[in-house]
Formats: sequence, structure tokens, C-alpha cells
Amino acid sequence: MTVSFVILAAGQGTRMQSDLPKVLHKVAGAPLLVHAMQSAAALDPERLVVVAGHGAEEVTKAAQDYDPDAQVVLQTEQLGTGHAVQQAQEALEGVAGDVIVLYGDTPFVQPETLQAMADARKTHDVVVLGFEARDPGRYGRLVMDGGDLTEIVEYKDADEAQRAITLCNSGVVAADRALMFDLLAEVGNDNASGEFYLTDIPALARARGLTATAVTCDEAETLGVNTRAQLAEAEAFFQSRMRAEALETGVTLTAPDTVHFAYDTIIGRDAEVEPNVVFGPGVTVESGARIRAFSHLEGCHVSRGAVVGPYARLRPGAELAEHSHVGNFVEVKNAILHEGVKANHLTYIGDAEVGEKTNIGAGTITCNYDGVFKHRTTIGKRAFIGSNTMLVAPVTVGDEAMTASGSVITKDVGDGALALSRAAQTEKPGMARKLMDMLRAKKKKQQDGAV
Ligand code: UD1
Ligand code: CA
Repeated sequence: MTVSFVILAAGQGTRMQSDLPKVLHKVAGAPLLVHAMQSAAALDPERLVVVAGHGAEEVTKAAQDYDPDAQVVLQTEQLGTGHAVQQAQEALEGVAGDVIVLYGDTPFVQPETLQAMADARKTHDVVVLGFEARDPGRYGRLVMDGGDLTEIVEYKDADEAQRAITLCNSGVVAADRALMFDLLAEVGNDNASGEFYLTDIPALARARGLTATAVTCDEAETLGVNTRAQLAEAEAFFQSRMRAEALETGVTLTAPDTVHFAYDTIIGRDAEVEPNVVFGPGVTVESGARIRAFSHLEGCHVSRGAVVGPYARLRPGAELAEHSHVGNFVEVKNAILHEGVKANHLTYIGDAEVGEKTNIGAGTITCNYDGVFKHRTTIGKRAFIGSNTMLVAPVTVGDEAMTASGSVITKDVGDGALALSRAAQTEKPGMARKLMDMLRAKKKKQQDGAV
């Protein structure tokens, strides 16, 4: 069965105390909205429509950065969840199959749960996602009759007996597209909030002799973010899930609680991650690589057998081939380090390519920026870059070439050549002692004068 998604993301999120629309606050490096879109994407949807309102421009950009095919529709006035879904009607006109509604501020609904809802649709016309709430608070309550869902009652509209129900509404609902919009057309706003409730759908379906039911999931999956505190909770929840997944798939984490993942981090089996490592978005670490303590990685690829850190920084476009080493206080950006390259100490390599087995000495810097343009540095195979070499790009150093330590390299260096570019050493015998005697005498004179 084909399925399309409507993701509600028009709300302001007043309680976040933020200029940023709520759904753009991030968990593990990705906006809440993107997490919801990612869950939807797992079901290979026919269409995906995001309903935007507050901060629509930014919301549209975030949605289409993640999925250029995502459609964004506007809800200019927030008149309720039912009204919000109606804004997607035109965008979904004539589309076959089901519609599932998700909330952009509820990032963790699992693809398996959505699949279970799609499956339950084989027996019921409307399927709602519920959960047993530890503290049901102000959630909508699911009124069940055996396996059938009779109605959803909003907290504000519920009586004492209904408020005692602990099975709550997550907000996620699935129905045939045509039926969904048919039923929404019947929804009124004669309720305690004066809003058009999406939650009226099950009762309206039953009034037509159709059926409704609820699929349930763990409360953690339905965690919604309304405050900064809940955002932090969501982050903690997501991190613990990523850590558990990494351990399960054969990654060694010596201190799991200190490792921070991004929403899309990929780490191979038998890779090892030491304490206090942070992964930004877009990182792949292959099997058997080792990420040592206090390293920070984003937008990079680390191959089998490579060793990174301790205290290394890999920025977007860093590509480390097999058995390369990037050591302490080394930063790599937009650069390929071929097999067996070693850059072990205090170095910046940016906009560069380094050939296999080349050794980069401590303190080497690729001077890639002239204040306006960026330039590339190319270093050949089995070269030896002496300590504290400044490579003023654009520049090329040949295969098996050497640069003398302290050199400022501004011209290309040929294969097998040694480039030396620093002031020649001179020596003045006895001068050091003479100088010190002079300075000490001066100091003594000042002290005597002060008495
Ligand atoms: C809703 C449900 C409630 C459920 C709860 C779960 C209704 C009427 N109630 O209540 O049963 O237990 O979620 O968290 O659906 N939104 C729009 N446009 C609108 C209104 C809302 O885009 O006009 C978006 C919000 O930005 C938010 C989501 O829809 O992401 C839910 O809206 P919210 O007002 O938070 O609903 P609740 O009152 O929490
Ligand atoms: Ca809410």
C-alpha cells in the first residue's frame, strides 16, 4: 500500500523562548523536523507534505535541504491540528493510498511503529498511535471498546472518568487519503479550545459505520519537545539510543556515556571509539578504525586501520585512507590523506591532497587562504615535510621530495628534491655570555637606585 505523510510544523513553540521556530531546534545535529522526516522516509512515501506557519521560510529551507521533493504548504493561522492537516489537501489531491500525520516536534516515532500502523489499516479504517503515559497530564485520552477506538477526548473536554484513562494520544494518525479529508471537512470547532481537532476523526469515522483502532508504542517514542528542558531530554534519549545501537553492532566504546553521535553517524564493526569523542553530522568511520580520546569529527570519512587523535579535529571533506594517522592537535579540512600518511602533531592540512606514506612534520601548515581565495596544496607520495613547514598554496611538492624544517615553501618542489627556504645560520662566539652579563649589570643598577 502506498503511503504519504503530512508533518505538522506550523506552531510557534512559545515555551522554547526562542526566535527559531521550534521544529528547527536540533537533536544530534539535525532539526527536530528532519528526524520526523527521516522516520517517514523509511516507509518510502509517495508524497511528503510539511505544514509550515511560524518561520515558514526557514522551515521550508530545512525541509527541502533534507528532501528536495518535500512539499511545503502554509497554514497562516493556527486554528488547530485538524485545520493544519486540511492545508495539505490540495497538495495530495488524487494521490492513492494512505495518509499518515506526524508532528514536526515529535522526532522519535520509529519506522517500525509507522509500519505497524500501516498494517493495522488492513483491518481498521482509522488507526491512531497511542501510548501508556506515566503521567497522562494534558494529553488527549483514547476511549477504547475492546480492540476498537471509540473516540479521542481532549483533556480540556474530558470528564473525570475520561481523565482517569492512561492510554493517551500521540497525535499520529493514519487513514485512507480521501477518507481523511472527507472526515476533516466535518470537523467543527465547538470545543473547549475553539480549535479544529484532528482528534475528532475516529468518532466521525465510527458515526459513518467505519472502524477505528489504536496501535501502541513506548512513551519514549512519542516524546514531544515543547521546552528547552525537553529538548535536552530528547538529546539524552537519542544519544543513549545511538550508543546502544553502536555497541550492539560491534563498535567498542570504552566510555559510552561520553561519546556524542550525530543523527547520521555510521561506524563500522570493530571500530574503537575512546572517551569524549564528538561526532558532528556526516561522519563515516570504517571497520577497525580507531578514534582516540577528545577528538571532534564532522563531514569526514575515516578508513579501515586509520588512527585519529587523541585531540584531533576532522572537518568537512577530510578523507583519511587506510592506515593513515592524524595525531594530537591536528586539523584536517577538505583534504585527502592517502594510505599510510602520518600527520602526528600540531598541524593544519586544508584544501590539500597528500600522497601515500608521506610524513607531515610537527607544526606544518598549508597556508590555503590569501584573505580572499582558497588555494590547494598537493604533496606527492613518500615525501617528507620537515617540521614547521609553511606550504603557501597553491603549491605542489613532488614524490619523495623533502622540505627542510622551518621552510616557507612558495614555489613547487620537484620529485626527489630537497627544498630549503629559511635564513642561513650564523654564529657569534661569546656573544651570549656578553649579552647576559650586560643585562644583569643593568638590572643590578636599577635595584641599587631604588633603595
Ligand atoms: C495534540 C492532540 C492531543 C495529543 C497531543 C500529543 C489535538 C487536538 N490534540 O494536543 O490529543 O495528546 O497532541 O502531543 O490534536 N499544529 C499546527 N497547526 C495548528 C495546531 C497545531 O501545525 O493549527 C502543530 C503544532 O505545531 C504541534 C502539533 O501540531 O507540532 C500539535 O499541536 P499542539 O497544539 O501542541 O497539540 P496539543 O494540544 O499538544
Ligand atoms: Ca503539544
